[in-house]
Amino acid sequence: MRPQMAPLSKIRPEMPKTILRIKNLRKVFRNNGSFLTVLDEINFTVRRGEMICLLGRSGCGKSTLLKILAGFLFPSSGAVLINDKPVTGPGPDRCVVFQEDTLFPWLTVKENIAFGLKGRTREKDGMWEEVEHFLSLVGLSEFRDYLPQDISGGMRQRVALARVLILKPKLLLMDEAMACMHPNDIDDMVGFIKRVAEEKNIAIVAMVEHIMRAVIGLAEKVIVLHQGSKIVDAPTKEALEDPKVVEVYLGHAPED
Ligand SMILES: Nc1ncnc2c1ncn2[C@@H]1O[C@H](COP(=O)(O)OP(=O)(O)OP(=O)(O)O)[C@@H](O)[C@H]1O
Ligand SMILES: [Mg+2]
Repeated sequence: MRPQMAPLSKIRPEMPKTILRIKNLRKVFRNNGSFLTVLDEINFTVRRGEMICLLGRSGCGKSTLLKILAGFLFPSSGAVLINDKPVTGPGPDRCVVFQEDTLFPWLTVKENIAFGLKGRTREKDGMWEEVEHFLSLVGLSEFRDYLPQDISGGMRQRVALARVLILKPKLLLMDEAMACMHPNDIDDMVGFIKRVAEEKNIAIVAMVEHIMRAVIGLAEKVIVLHQGSKIVDAPTKEALEDPKVVEVYLGHAPED
């Protein structure tokens, strides 16, 4: 008797799909008649569910790259594809959280979180239940009726994150969103992002961060930029131990 064959899908576990593809990306700014090449020949891919971090010295082009992914800026050449479609501008599949607090000061914590959902008619039913769920995920249920001025900076950043994550983007982009936070708040924030990304199946978290605690806690992969070029693209531990990264970015071994 012939042995029964297992279906192919059971033999080969499916690799998560590539959802973000950056191809030969180049960005040149023109300033007072001279040209500045900020990003050059940048290529990388990100798979669904992957959390990546962009690292590099100040001015190496991290925020520029993040803004291009968000659709706020256009590349000079090359392409950014999400699910194989070119990014042509900002879209509801991408959300950005910056370092600065961008909450509406006249709205309460819960109204800030609900804000983006109000325009989405399909999600109006059950909107407040969803808001309550996100409030508890960020540990701010007790502060639902507070105004932003009456909570701490770390709490405000958690509200800012909840406000975008409730929209269930495919791609969450953070530009030094944890830069001004206390180490305990960073740990809470990292836990929150991981919980929500898993629970709501948010495809990617791409972040620009200088705080090693946040990078090590969140990123599976690190991409290091130096003078506009990608010099390392590797799993976090490997990347942070790479001699090139130690030399140009860290200046010392990561455990020092
Ligand atoms: N709109 C612009 N016009 C001209 N030059 C720009 C513009 N935006 C950024 N630059 C230049 O591009 C370079 C990269 O800037 P970018 O903000 O991407 O750096 P960064 O890696 O995010 O730095 P940091 O860690 O300090 O935030 C800098 O030299 C900056 O002056
Ligand atoms: Mg920046």
